[in-house]
Amino acid sequence: MTKIIAIANQKGGVGKTTTAINLATALVSIGQKILVLDLDPQSNASTGLGISEDRRKKTVYELFVSNEYEKNSIQNTAIPNLDIIPSRTDLAAAEIELVDLENRESILKSLLLKIENYDKIIIDCPPALGLLTINGLVAAGSVIIPLQCEFFALEGLSSLISTIESLRESFNKNLQIQGVVLTMFDKRNSLSYLVEQDVRKHLGGRVYKTVIPRNVRISEAPSHGKPILIYDINCPGSRAYIDLAKEIIKQESDG
Ligand SMILES: Nc1ncnc2c1ncn2[C@@H]1O[C@H](COP(=O)(O)OP(=O)(O)OP(=O)(O)O)[C@@H](O)[C@H]1O
Ligand SMILES: [Mg+2]
Repeated sequence: MTKIIAIANQKGGVGKTTTAINLATALVSIGQKILVLDLDPQSNASTGLGISEDRRKKTVYELFVSNEYEKNSIQNTAIPNLDIIPSRTDLAAAEIELVDLENRESILKSLLLKIENYDKIIIDCPPALGLLTINGLVAAGSVIIPLQCEFFALEGLSSLISTIESLRESFNKNLQIQGVVLTMFDKRNSLSYLVEQDVRKHLGGRVYKTVIPRNVRISEAPSHGKPILIYDINCPGSRAYIDLAKEIIKQESDG
C-alpha cells in the first residue's frame, strides 16, 4: 500500500517545501520509491526538484480540472526513484473552481487511489487551510507538521489541529498526526533552545528527536534545482534529513 503523507502548516515559510523535497530524497537514499505531489501554486517543490517550465504541461491543476488521473502528469526527477507531479501558478484558480463541486474535498483522494508502485506519496501543501490543503489532508494517511524554531512557532497550530480533528469526523477518520519536525534550529541563538523546549513540553512524543538545523546550504540548493542531499551530501542539513528519514522509517516499523 502506498502511504500518503501531507506536509502541512498554514503558517508560511516554516520549511514545508524544504522538508517535502529533502525528506523525499533522504527516503529514496535509503531504498524507498517516492512520489512528491506539489500542491502549492507557488510551485517551489517543482522548482526545487529541477522541473523546468516546459515540463509543467500536465500538472496538479489539470488533474483537478479533468478529475481524471493521467499517467503522464508524473515527471521523473534527476534522481532515480524520485518522481513528482508538478504544479503551476494557475493551481490557485483550482481552489476557486472547486468550490461548487459536490466532492470538492476528496477529488485528490480519488485521483491518488489510482497511483501505485510507490512506497510513499509526499504532498507539499500550500501555506493556507483552504481547499487545496483540505484535499491534501483528506487524501493523506498522516500529516507531518514542520515548526520553525522562532517566536510564534506554536501560533496557528491549534487551528491546524482542529482542522485535522474535524476532517477525522467527516472525510478521513484515520488521519494521523505522524509527527512534528522542528526546522531552522539556530544553535547560536538561545531562542531556538527555548522554542524547542516549549514545543516539546506542549507536544511531547509527537516531536521528532531529529531537529533540522538552520544551514545556508539548504537555502542555496533550490536555486540549483537540487535537493540538499545532491547539492552537498556532507553538510549538516543533509545529515539531518537522513536522520529524519531513518527516524520516520523506524517509527513506521515500530507501528
Ligand atoms: N533548515 C534551513 N536552513 C536554512 N534555510 C532554510 C531551512 N529550511 C528552509 N529554509 C529556507 O527558508 C525559506 C522557507 O522555506 P520553505 O520554502 O521550505 O518553507 P514553506 O513552509 O514551504 O514556505 P511556504 O509557506 O511559502 O510554502 C526558503 O527560502 C528555504 O530555502
Ligand atoms: Mg512551500
